Amino acid sequence: MEPLYRVQGGGPLRGDVGASGAKNAALPCLAATLLTAEPCTIRNLPDIADVGGLLAILSQLGAEVDHDPAAHRVTVRAAGPLAEAPPDQLVGNQRASFLVMGPLLAREGRGACAAPGGDLIGQRPLDVHLRGFRALGADVRTEAGRFVASGRLRGARMVLDYPSVLGTENLMLAAVRAEGETVIVNAAAEPEVAALADLLCAMGARIRGAGSHTITVTGVAALHGADYTLIPDRIEAGTFAVAAAITGGDVRIHDVRPRHLEALLSKLREIGVEIDEDDEALRVRRRGPLQATTAQAVPYPGLATDLQALVTTLLTQAEGVSTVNERVFENRLGYVAELRKMGARIVTAGSAAIVQGPTPLHGAVVQGLDVRASAALVVAALVADGETELRDVVHLERGYEDFGEKLRGLGAVIERRGVAPETPRA
Ligand code: UD1
Repeated sequence: MEPLYRVQGGGPLRGDVGASGAKNAALPCLAATLLTAEPCTIRNLPDIADVGGLLAILSQLGAEVDHDPAAHRVTVRAAGPLAEAPPDQLVGNQRASFLVMGPLLAREGRGACAAPGGDLIGQRPLDVHLRGFRALGADVRTEAGRFVASGRLRGARMVLDYPSVLGTENLMLAAVRAEGETVIVNAAAEPEVAALADLLCAMGARIRGAGSHTITVTGVAALHGADYTLIPDRIEAGTFAVAAAITGGDVRIHDVRPRHLEALLSKLREIGVEIDEDDEALRVRRRGPLQATTAQAVPYPGLATDLQALVTTLLTQAEGVSTVNERVFENRLGYVAELRKMGARIVTAGSAAIVQGPTPLHGAVVQGLDVRASAALVVAALVADGETELRDVVHLERGYEDFGEKLRGLGAVIERRGVAPETPRA
C-alpha cells in the first residue's frame, strides 16, 4: 500500500515544536564534501528522503559515508578517485543531484550528470549552471543523455540571467578550486547559499559576499576537512507558523532563525497573526479573524516560493479577496485544484491565485504534488470538517522530518498508513 496520511480536522494547535536542519542547506553541503579527500562531518542533518538520496549518490561516486540518522550526523570521506557520474536512476529523484557537477569538475577536471528530477512545478532549466561552467573555462556538452563538463577552471566574472539557488551553489562549488578570482553577479542571496559558503570557508575556501547578490570566490589549490552544523530549516519553521495561525492556535517554534523568515512573519502580522520572536524562537498565536491581503513569491529576502502554497492555504480563512502571485516558478499552483476539492474558493489567472475567504473547508481525498504543496494540504486538513486523506506522501517525506509526529505533538490528529518511508540509505 502506498503510504498516505489521514488527517482529522480539529481544534487549535498548542505547544512547542522544533525545526530540523535545513534541507536546502544540507544538500549543497553534502555535495561540498566531495571537494576534499579529508573527512567532513555535517551535523543537524535532517533525516529525510532527499538527504538519503544524495548520500546514496555520494557513496556511488566512491565516497565513504558514515551516516547516523538518529544522531542527525554524517561523516563523508571522499578519499580516492571519484566516479565520473552518479547513476542516472538516482539522479532522477531530485534536482539537487546536479550539485555534484561543480565538485566533480573542480576536483577531477571532469564531471557528468543526467538531467535531474524533482518536484513537478514547471520547467526547471539548467542554463545558469551550464553557462557558468563555460564562463569558468569548462567545455560543456551532452553525451549519451548526460551533461558532461570538463577542463581546467579559471576564475571569471559572470552575470547570472536569474539568481538561481542551485545554480549559484554549483558555480561556487566549482569556483572554489579554480585558478584566480570568480565574481558571481546576480547571485542568489538565500540563507542556504550563505550556509554553503560558511562550510566551504571552514574547509579552507575564500569566499566573500555570500548571502548578497555579488559573491567573490578566490580559488585555492586544495580544501581540507571540516565539522559543520547546519542552519535550521526556515521553510519547515514557516510551515508550523502557518499551521498555528490557521488553527487559531498558540505554538512556540524553537530552533529557528526568525531573521530568515522576515517576509513571512511580516505578512502574517499584516493579516492578523500575533508573533513574538527572540533570536532562536517564535511564538505564533491567532486570537481574532484574519484579513485578506496580496502577496508575491519572489527570491530571498522576499516571500519564499516554498511558502507560497502555505500562505494561499491560510488566506482561504481570511476575510475578503486575497491575491497571491507566484513569480519564481511558472507552474506552482497545481495544488489549488486539490484545495478546491476541500471546498476552497480559489481561481487561478496565469501565475496568480485569487482566494475568496473565509471558506469552511471539508475533508477530501487529495494528492500531494510537491513537497511544499503536500504540507499545505495537511495544514488545510487541520481545519477541515471531517477526514482528509493525503495520497503520495513520498513527496512530503522528501523534505519534512517526522512531520506527522511533530504535528501530533501539537495536538493534531494524523495517522500515517502504509509502508515505512523508503529512504535510500548509503
Ligand atoms: C531551490 C530550492 C527550492 C526553491 C527554489 C527557489 C533546493 C534544493 N531547492 O531550487 O526548494 O523552491 O530554490 O527558491 O535548494 N532557472 C533558470 N535557469 C537555471 C536554473 C533556474 O531559468 O539554470 C529558473 C527556474 O526555471 C525557476 C527559477 O530560476 O523559474 C528559480 O529556480 P532556482 O532558484 O534554480 O530553484 P532551484 O535552485 O532548483
